[in-house]
Amino acid sequence: MTYQLTCSIPASQIHYEIKIGRHILNDLSKFLKPFGHKFALIADTITGPLYGEKIKEMLLKEGLEASLFTFPSGEAYKTRATKENLENQLFEKGLGRDTCLLAVGGGVVTDLAGFIAATYCRGIPLVMLPTTLLGMVDASIGGKTGVNTPRGKNLVGCIYQPQLVIMDVSTLGSLSREEIKNGAVEMIKHGLIADASYFSYLALHSDRLLALESAILQKAIYESCRIKKEMVEQDEKERGKRHLLNFGHTIGHALEHLTHYELSHGEAVAIGILVESYLALIKGCLSQHSFDQIRDILRKYALPLRLPRRISYEALFQAMILDKKSCHGKPRFVMLQEIGDPFIPHSNYCVPIEDELIKQAVEWMDHALCGN
Ligand SMILES: NC(=O)c1ccc[n+]([C@@H]2O[C@H](COP(=O)([O-])OP(=O)(O)OC[C@H]3O[C@@H](n4cnc5c(N)ncnc54)[C@H](O)[C@@H]3O)[C@@H](O)[C@H]2O)c1
Repeated sequence: MTYQLTCSIPASQIHYEIKIGRHILNDLSKFLKPFGHKFALIADTITGPLYGEKIKEMLLKEGLEASLFTFPSGEAYKTRATKENLENQLFEKGLGRDTCLLAVGGGVVTDLAGFIAATYCRGIPLVMLPTTLLGMVDASIGGKTGVNTPRGKNLVGCIYQPQLVIMDVSTLGSLSREEIKNGAVEMIKHGLIADASYFSYLALHSDRLLALESAILQKAIYESCRIKKEMVEQDEKERGKRHLLNFGHTIGHALEHLTHYELSHGEAVAIGILVESYLALIKGCLSQHSFDQIRDILRKYALPLRLPRRISYEALFQAMILDKKSCHGKPRFVMLQEIGDPFIPHSNYCVPIEDELIKQAVEWMDHALCGN
């Protein structure tokens, strides 16, 4: 079974397909027909040998031109320097604007390759071939591309939509359980902000999803991509509804920063989801029953929900106001009023919360999640 979605942003004249299936990379050359005969694959030093080489050989066998370019794996290499280095290699190969760029890897590769595609020869076609769960349900759709700078993550980049996204779930077989859990956190977030029945599906099938059972995995990836692409279609530039995708991230990003990345992104966002749900509980938006369901699903996905050390309200507050959603020196949060149903007063997708409640939530977090 292959799932298919179309992302359409008529205002920008953008329409692209998202295909989800098992072993669909075997049909890649058929899908690439509209993109000419010259392909540059960008991968990291893990996804290059695992998948990039095979894809390159497959395209060469079909009589297409294909070259593979790799850079060291890891967030630390999602930089302007790596971008420049890869661009120089593309120029040295004589690749021009008739080249189609294939991004083969996780979110680091798709963000970096996407940014290269956006600017190389003023823009060349981009096809995403995500190989992590997070890359599939989040990074490869929606068009956000970019690199990190010493001053922070994703500070330089642009929105540039791919022309095709192909998700082959068989590539997830080589991924660590930690990386699967990182993706699962974003899927849980999708259910929480948009679809209670999808949330229940994820809760019911946690073991089977973590075991990468193909039918469950494909259906869940499809639902997550549907939710994300619908938000992108309505708000490509993140001026309104797309803010909902930041649920759990106001606190999550601050925790990542304050723990010097001791917490993985998935762990930090899982704690962010829990604490932002607690904020909704004490603000009187969310019921205790729904809060308990949220805590339960995070446990089902074996997310540690532990802080390495206590975090002070002052430090968290300072870190949160660096968030791009903050306004007039106050952090803002996506608030849930029910599972699948965010609170959106006067079309405000994220809202400021009283300092006293934030303080109370931080005290609860330290007490509930910190063993020290
Ligand atoms: N553009 C967006 O909308 C968006 C959304 C969410 C996250 N992101 C970005 O995504 C990045 C995180 O993405 P990620 O979690 O995929 O990290 P990643 O790309 O670093 O991948 C994680 C690790 O898994 C390895 N890997 C990738 N695929 C593999 C496979 N199939 N088998 C074995 N190993 C594999 C990678 O080499 C890497 O070591 C961050 O830079 C984040 O900013 C972007």
